[in-house]
Amino acid sequence: MMKVARAPLLLMLAAAALLAGCERPRPDTVQNGWHGTGMVQVSNPRINEAKADANQAPEPLAAAAQEGPKAGAIYQNVKVLGDVSVGEFTRTMLSLTAWVAPEQGCAYCHNTQNLAEDSKYTKVVARRMLQMTRAINADWKTHVAATGVTCYTCHRGQNIPANVWFAPPPRPDRGGVSGDNALQNKPAHIVGLSSLPYDPFSPYLLGDEDIRAAGLMATTGKLQSTQHTEKTYGLMIHMSNSLGVNCTFCHNTRNFATWDGSSPQRVTAWYGIRMVRALNNEYLVPLTSTFPPERLGSTGDVAKVYCNTCHNGINKPLYGAPMAKDYPALAAPADPAATPVASADAPATQQP
Ligand code: HEC
Ligand code: HEC
Ligand code: HEC
Ligand code: HEC
Repeated sequence: MMKVARAPLLLMLAAAALLAGCERPRPDTVQNGWHGTGMVQVSNPRINEAKADANQAPEPLAAAAQEGPKAGAIYQNVKVLGDVSVGEFTRTMLSLTAWVAPEQGCAYCHNTQNLAEDSKYTKVVARRMLQMTRAINADWKTHVAATGVTCYTCHRGQNIPANVWFAPPPRPDRGGVSGDNALQNKPAHIVGLSSLPYDPFSPYLLGDEDIRAAGLMATTGKLQSTQHTEKTYGLMIHMSNSLGVNCTFCHNTRNFATWDGSSPQRVTAWYGIRMVRALNNEYLVPLTSTFPPERLGSTGDVAKVYCNTCHNGINKPLYGAPMAKDYPALAAPADPAATPVASADAPATQQP
């Protein structure tokens, strides 16, 4: 008799123990949408804590004198930073050593016998990276606001940023029913271990295909293909994971497509997508032949930027620490032609 009664109790206890293990401690929930829209952010305090350690901004170096001769007048081969004071130039060299090559030091980019020489590819890349960082801070305020970025935002003390992407190898064509896998049906981390296509980046973050799930294509009047819809979801999973947020951070799930009722963050994300495309096409791809072969991907392509390169799991990289303000050398005059301005092209959101 006793045994019979105890068995379901034990089962219940075991089930309770199993379920309790699912999410521990209790998740935090925060509402970020309009009342009643269910636009809630759920996060796990234990995971938040672990992320906090990995996403601290470094202390800036003591400020340098902005007066005195300019670097361009003193040094021999300065093509980007010519307009900053010698003091700020030296401070910038010290900073970028700490951000990108703390172990190797100046010699990572320089022949230390002749600092003006461009013999190391790393220096050639770094010069272009200086221009890219200036362009992000000046031309993409629609995304990075006054917060901005430094080399650290992506590199985090490493020669190569930890979060970059390459095009996957061409799909194996073995013929028959299993021949063409259409780059999908392989649980990949990139798409949250789903069977969605695992290269949602080449079409959207290098190319500028339309990010759409349903409805008519403006150009052809045809319905979006299933492939297109799947790739869109793949990209959205990457965006959510990179920012450590749920879909409702940006969308009111009543209707994913409409801007009406989407959060303002979705507009920031829209500009972010355009910024990433520009960084990949204008800066990284043209550097392909500058990199040695061992830095390239299996199809010979260069490492490229996506949301996680800067965000690393946080909705604002380094918790929104102001990166640009302490580094005048990484600020530059804005180029009005570089950013899509708030025109017919750019969406606006409105709370319901
Ligand atoms: C990550 C690469 C990188 C590291 C590390 C680095 N530099 Fe540089 N350095 C550059 C680049 C790029 C330029 C050219 C900047 C330009 O064209 O505006 C440069 C230029 C210079 C120049 C000007 C030389 C001339 O006459 O044209 C000096 C001086 C210099 N660096 C000193 C240093 C010192 C000292 C260190 C170590 C504390 C250092 N750099 C570390 C990339 C680097
Ligand atoms: C938006 C992200 C981003 C920013 C900001 C950024 N980088 Fe990079 N950097 C990259 C990517 C992506 C690569 C390519 C990595 C690869 O080849 O695997 C790279 C490569 C490099 C390399 C070549 C390293 C090697 O060993 O091959 C150097 C040097 C470098 N960056 C310097 C800098 C400097 C200096 C700054 C700041 C002025 C900077 N980067 C800012 C993304 C960034
Ligand atoms: C950080 C903000 C953000 C997050 C998080 C996000 N999205 Fe999106 N989503 C966007 C933006 C921006 C677009 C429009 C992209 C464009 O037009 O370039 C979009 C477009 C879409 C579309 C296409 C709508 C159409 O017009 O056909 C779908 C579907 C979608 N998202 C679903 C999701 C799902 C599902 C998730 C969660 C896995 C998600 N999104 C997470 C910002 C976000
Ligand atoms: C070059 C670095 C960089 C890249 C790459 C990048 N972001 Fe950002 N993003 C930032 C910075 C910096 C901020 C903080 C701006 C601010 O303080 O308002 C930010 C803010 C945001 C915000 C606003 C968050 C909030 O809480 O208000 C969203 C949404 C966002 N990014 C989405 C994206 C998406 C989606 C991608 C990829 C398509 C992306 N970002 C790529 C640097 C980057």
